Amino acid sequence: MKPIENKTFVLASHNKGKLREFSDLLRPFGYSVRSAAELGLDEPEETGSTFEENAYIKAHAAAVATGLPALSDDSGLCVDALDGAPGVYTADWATKEDGSRDFMMAMEKTEKLLAEKGADTPQKRTGRFVATLCLCFPDGEAEYFRGAVDGHLVWPPRGTDGFGYDPVFQPDGFDITFGEMTAEEKHGWKPGDEQALSHRARAFREFARARLGAA
Ligand code: IMP
Repeated sequence: MKPIENKTFVLASHNKGKLREFSDLLRPFGYSVRSAAELGLDEPEETGSTFEENAYIKAHAAAVATGLPALSDDSGLCVDALDGAPGVYTADWATKEDGSRDFMMAMEKTEKLLAEKGADTPQKRTGRFVATLCLCFPDGEAEYFRGAVDGHLVWPPRGTDGFGYDPVFQPDGFDITFGEMTAEEKHGWKPGDEQALSHRARAFREFARARLGAA
């Protein structure tokens, strides 16, 4: 396991929502972190069929381009009644013909498929958000950290906070969606905390304990 030298790495993402959450999570650690977006790196095509493969593609491309270790996040929503879809295609379901993203369109597509399955109770609408982080070095050496949070999909969407599919996902044990939560409620975690709620916070907690010396 190589060290992260000079407390410096690249966040291999262009997704503003993810970058905002990682910047909150990284604040206590005093690392110098630049994002792939800030550095003007290209976004590689995500050709993998698993979260791990896509996380590796993104982290490896950023590590090779910068010569620095890179941390990526590949994440998505897996709905049980849809056999795990959209899964690794979660972002694709929001992609329009002109390449822009429309998450209302993606949530409507998910809802239409659930309605076709007759999924009309919370028990028939279960699923989880999954996040796989990959820390990759320029020579290709890689480590993975995974987090997931169970819940169910609601309709209509509720809340304007967060990003992506947050307004339709209600985590188990809560009566509000991710879209109705504050940033602190959704992904707040700091060293020493046992609890983390979101998939990304849970995956980050594993990364921080393994690699940033967090308790
Ligand atoms: P990818 O990891 O770039 O393939 O994109 C994953 C997609 O999953 C994002 O574009 C979001 O739509 C969705 N997603 C991942 N994490 C979250 C989250 O915390 N809230 C809402 N949507 C998410």
